[in-house]
Amino acid sequence: MKTEILEIDPANPDGRLIERAAAVIRKGGLVAFPTETVYGLGANAFDPVAVRRIYEAKGRPADNPVIVHVASVEGAKRIVAVWSEPAQRLAHRFWPGPLTLVLPKKECVPKEVTAGGPAVAVRIPRNAIALALLVVSERPIAAPSANRSSRISPTRAEHVLRDLGGRIDLILDGGPSQVGIESTVLDLSSDRPRILRPGMISKAEIESVIGPLKDHSPGLTVGPMRSPGQMVRHYAPRTPVEIAAGDGRVRVRELLEHGLQVGYVSFGAVGQALLENEGFLVPVTMPETPGEYGARLYEALHRLDDRHLDRIIVELPPDTPEWLAIRDRLWRASAENNAPGGT
Ligand code: TXA
Ligand code: MG
Repeated sequence: MKTEILEIDPANPDGRLIERAAAVIRKGGLVAFPTETVYGLGANAFDPVAVRRIYEAKGRPADNPVIVHVASVEGAKRIVAVWSEPAQRLAHRFWPGPLTLVLPKKECVPKEVTAGGPAVAVRIPRNAIALALLVVSERPIAAPSANRSSRISPTRAEHVLRDLGGRIDLILDGGPSQVGIESTVLDLSSDRPRILRPGMISKAEIESVIGPLKDHSPGLTVGPMRSPGQMVRHYAPRTPVEIAAGDGRVRVRELLEHGLQVGYVSFGAVGQALLENEGFLVPVTMPETPGEYGARLYEALHRLDDRHLDRIIVELPPDTPEWLAIRDRLWRASAENNAPGGT
């Protein structure tokens, strides 16, 4: 299959291009499209065959359900059996935006979407291209991140092309994703709301709208999440990623002495030129605010991964609530080395 790429202006999406993409969705094809978090790989959520094609293209295990994207709260209510008061309040506060709500599903949602489970994950993305596609296709769109299973999520069309080129019908290239890491996933399907995946919308922000979460939703210590089928090793580049204990430069120098080719992702400012003089091959300085860091993280990992290095050394941001989601993704990127991995 040849994958077509359409460049499209996120500030003012061309209706003709959106219509072409919507036609692909309506006839059961796969369209990768930008959202504010990462690029999604979309199919008509009401078409089980099309949804199965998502799993095939990604090589995704069948037990990991996918998020359904909708254009409005009305659209969410069409697939959700119980639209609760907390759901309404959170949607009002955070949608369109990077918060996914897991709620009891209606009969009309195919089992392929929820991996056979009784609840469906839903969100309204904050991206004009995604919203236009949802409106024009007149379908809810099931879309996991547009990467091969267990690889890093794409924040640019070229990342999608590299991973899924030849396996999907169309990529809408709407430039870089602004948030840069995946949405917060909040399970509201039982009377004990809990965060299944941390994201840029924090536990504190959610609690400010619906009151304290009773559970031990990921606090400061990151670890395996409880979303069904979610793998420990996820969001990982091909190059082994190692979290530095303390100053990453010490570890990089050690590996350089052993003749390894090493990428270095520092936290905060370091003298780029000085490091290069020392033989640091690809030093990347990451921003010191979570928002900017998140926006650049996957792009940095993709770029380092392309260099076919022996190792990527990463310095962790501080162990504070606002860095939780980013620490979670870094931990996952490195899980192959540091923790008993999934597949
Ligand atoms: O930001 C995002 O969420 C992006 C964009 C494209 O919307 N999507 C994304 O999808 O990251 P994916 O499939 O890579 O991650 C979806 C997460 C997984 O951890 C999955 O287990 C969880 O949401 N999930 C999906 N449906 C669920 C359900 N019915 N119950 C519980 N967890 C669910
Ligand atoms: Mg994903």
